[in-house]
Amino acid sequence: MGKSSKDKRDLYYRKAKEEGWRARSAFKLLQLNDQFQLFDGVRRVVDLCAAPGSWSQVLSRELYEKQQDTATPAKIVAVDLQPMSPINGVTTLQADITHPKTLQRILDEFGGEPADFVCSDGAPDVTGLHDLDEYIQAQLILCALQLTTCMLRAGGTFVAKIFRGRDIDLLYSQLRFLFDRVICAKPRSSRGTSLEAFIVCIGYKPRPGWQPTLELSKSTEEFFEGSGIGRATTLEHLELPEEERCVAKFVACGDLSSYDSDATYTLDENYQRISLDPVQSPTAPPYKKALELKRRGEMVRK
Ligand SMILES: C[S@@+](CC[C@H](N)C(=O)[O-])C[C@H]1O[C@@H](n2cnc3c(N)ncnc32)[C@H](O)[C@@H]1O
Repeated sequence: MGKSSKDKRDLYYRKAKEEGWRARSAFKLLQLNDQFQLFDGVRRVVDLCAAPGSWSQVLSRELYEKQQDTATPAKIVAVDLQPMSPINGVTTLQADITHPKTLQRILDEFGGEPADFVCSDGAPDVTGLHDLDEYIQAQLILCALQLTTCMLRAGGTFVAKIFRGRDIDLLYSQLRFLFDRVICAKPRSSRGTSLEAFIVCIGYKPRPGWQPTLELSKSTEEFFEGSGIGRATTLEHLELPEEERCVAKFVACGDLSSYDSDATYTLDENYQRISLDPVQSPTAPPYKKALELKRRGEMVRK
């Protein structure tokens, strides 16, 4: 395969490099924002699972750079297991969103004030074992949701990546207990052939008296006790009467003039000669150690 073959197959990948985004995912958040005006009035935002940082770049451009001359520009906190290269106006935390201590680190950045908007584009490393991958992804979404319920202001918005697997309507139903509106959105830059979509949860409405607290010793069921989320036995097998299960409205974002992420577009001759390099090389890729060993001639087969 030639150097430009991915550029040819994936127009958003190519456009991301042209426009300086660290990943093509930037277009997903931009298209979601076009559809739902997610950034309106937002002062404090948390980007969970943020590396390499294209969503944080979008937030920086739309919320920090446009307001930097005002007395209080938006505060953006980005969290990931991986280290991230700096982005203008973004505080990066290298932390695990499944660990309760991460919550306090985020709140400290906001001086104890709640967030207006939390987004999560989290995805675990895939093992190739389909059921296990689906389970870990579901757990990651639950962790992002738990964290969100502890730091989002009433009326705030939560957006997270989901995979529309078997029991996704259960998640929609659970979310409907916590938010006024739950929409399943598919940006045009997300491949039609992928099960990926985004839940857009608008108008956070925690049940009065429910005080979500994160503790290592607490199970997910204990965490949501009192939240009003149905009658949980385990959260994955939540018992909801048929009338309480809900199918979220499905919205495709990005109009027909947007590029189709599953189509192949031709490259002009000029582009083929000067195929662009990625905007940001991975900061700590797993293959780095192997490359170092190889360079030092220490890579030996045992
Ligand atoms: C698809 S990438 C996010 C891309 C990002 N939104 C962007 O636009 O550049 C998924 C990220 O989830 C992160 N992640 C997975 N599990 C995590 C966890 N438990 N805590 C924090 N980050 C996690 C991974 O390290 C990875 O960087």
